[in-house]
Amino acid sequence: MKLPSRVKLVDVGPRDGLQNEKQMVPAEVKITLVHMLQDAGLKEIEVTSFVSPKWVPQMADNAQVMAGIHRKPGVRYSVLVPNMKGFEAAVESKPDEIVVFGAASEAFSQRNINCSIAESIERFAPVVEAALKRNIYVRGAISTAVGCPYEGEIAPERVELVARLMKQIGVQHCGVADTIGVGTPLKVQRAMEAALKHYDINDVSGHFHDTYGQALVNTMACLEMGIWQFDSSSAGLGGCPYAKGATGNVATEDVVYMLQGLGIETGIDLDKLIDAGKYISDFLDRKPNSRAATALLNQRT
Ligand code: HMG
Ligand code: MG
Repeated sequence: MKLPSRVKLVDVGPRDGLQNEKQMVPAEVKITLVHMLQDAGLKEIEVTSFVSPKWVPQMADNAQVMAGIHRKPGVRYSVLVPNMKGFEAAVESKPDEIVVFGAASEAFSQRNINCSIAESIERFAPVVEAALKRNIYVRGAISTAVGCPYEGEIAPERVELVARLMKQIGVQHCGVADTIGVGTPLKVQRAMEAALKHYDINDVSGHFHDTYGQALVNTMACLEMGIWQFDSSSAGLGGCPYAKGATGNVATEDVVYMLQGLGIETGIDLDKLIDAGKYISDFLDRKPNSRAATALLNQRT
């Protein structure tokens, strides 16, 4: 079994992790979390989203958060953008990367971004064009790539279709997302293979919510395919307000612990990462949702 020698993790905690929180998290806390993540060695951080504040109030401070970050050379800061209005606002904050986010399921597309899959591609096309003109890298996310809270199981062909449509409009990277964490290794591999019909292995990533405790094993299944880029969330925060029952992303701490054990390089300092996860968990008044963080924090005391 030949595994990648290095893995890039995108910590989506400040965005995916916090978007679903009921209590408002002040911009300063989000900024501190970003600073702690970059100090821990994260090379890409998904900071916020430029979506409607009526739909996702927690992300209303997007510009303030982006403006407050002391950027570290070599770190990429990405933001979610659903349409041109979001792009125009995002661009003022100078992101290194934007993420357009569609879905493999029609019902989820409607609930999440209020339009059909075809309409979403029409909305993304001018965003992608404008971003590429400004040399801003464009990542795409395909939600509900294995299962949908409204439609049930999703066939890989539907992932392939959205990957093809995204490729046609110039999206440079394809993130395959198990929004509600129902995937198991072979199903996730099939969804990945569907994306790989249109994207190079170096341009795909996995984004696994851990609702059913499968995210780590799904990550391993992708590593076995040679996939080396993943989204994860410090302290296992996360969830989508429009995906009922979905819990957090796989904890960055758990992924880093596993990768260290496999001898795979991440450039991340696990101790400092645990501090970041503990900081945000303390603020939210809960324990980190990471088995590795819990075990290592217990050892500290
Ligand atoms: P809409 O209502 O169809 O948009 O929403 P609209 O164009 O008809 O505009 C309606 C109002 O929204 C107008 O304001 C617009 O100005 C405003 P009003 O005149 O009523 O005052 N508006 C905006 N405001 C700020 N920023 C914008 C923007 N666009 C319109 N960009 C829209 C469409 C996409 C905006 C809406 O459905 C929305 O914001 N949805 C939120 C989606 C979201 O953030 N979901 C969570 C992130 S995705 C996720 O978590 C999944 C992921 O993690 C992968 C996975 O796990 O699956 C990425
Ligand atoms: Mg997500």
